[in-house]
Amino acid sequence: MLRFMIINGPNLNLLGRREPEIYGSATYADLVKLISKHCQEMQVDCKIMQSNHEGAIVDAIQSAPDYCDGIIINPAAYTHTSVAILDALRAVGLPAVEVHISDVDKREDFRHISYPGMYCFKTIKGEGIQGYCTAIDVLLQHIWEQKPTI
Ligand code: DQA
Repeated sequence: MLRFMIINGPNLNLLGRREPEIYGSATYADLVKLISKHCQEMQVDCKIMQSNHEGAIVDAIQSAPDYCDGIIINPAAYTHTSVAILDALRAVGLPAVEVHISDVDKREDFRHISYPGMYCFKTIKGEGIQGYCTAIDVLLQHIWEQKPTI
């Protein structure tokens, strides 16, 4: 069974209460439920984490190769600032997909740059929390395409 690590950055624990006109009314618990259900349907084992701390996210990425085959990451505000997260992704070399609940390209200019996005092979944005399911499908497809069929 394939295993994915799903990493959520700062303030995503406040989903549902936080700017619902941008991020929707679903809570972080709803997001975890949605991801878990989709992973179960796709027969993927998943580890889901959230942290408000950049270093904890770097630590999680560094530990990922010990037990997973790919990473899905919403670095939240660190998207636009964190060379450390980009470097961690590069260092571990696992396939990775970036997700944003909102369409960052249609928002303020400072949200148009993504450091982790320079490593990720795909970015899903503007699909709401459903975008995490798209990211899981895209990552699965990518890994299947890389594996030789017998
Ligand atoms: C976000 C977009 C970021 O610009 C913002 O800082 C977030 C959430 C999104 O999912 O749309 O915290 O990553």
